Amino acid sequence: MGKLMLRSLIGLASRLEGLEQIVLSVTAHNETAKKLYDSLGFQVFGREPRALRANGEYFDEEHRVLLLNIVKLDGEW
Ligand SMILES: CC(C)(COP(=O)(O)OP(=O)(O)OC[C@H]1O[C@@H](n2cnc3c(N)ncnc32)[C@H](O)[C@@H]1OP(=O)(O)O)[C@@H](O)C(=O)NCCC(=O)NCCS
Repeated sequence: MGKLMLRSLIGLASRLEGLEQIVLSVTAHNETAKKLYDSLGFQVFGREPRALRANGEYFDEEHRVLLLNIVKLDGEW
């Protein structure tokens, strides 16, 4: 379901005039979400150490980007 929803949103976003990329952040230990973003083509461009703190514990965040012009050229959406 998550993948279907994201594919649909990316399809809508890719038709917006002037929008070239989508950026997101994911907690670095969230393997399920990272696999999902990998499968949709989101590429890692950075990791922010100790980006979040919950209950006294720190978590890194991974920053990712999907370049829509490349997606469009691939004709995938
Ligand atoms: C991450 C999340 C949105 C995925 O949604 P989902 O409906 O479970 O995912 P789907 O069934 O559409 O699967 C999409 C992909 O996610 C990955 N995935 C899903 N469940 C997985 C699991 N248990 N283990 C590893 N990867 C998994 C796979 O890559 C899968 O693609 P594939 O079936 O082609 O291999 C969902 O698990 C969720 O809501 N998690 C809690 C909130 C969260 O982590 N949000 C992300 C914040 S950045």
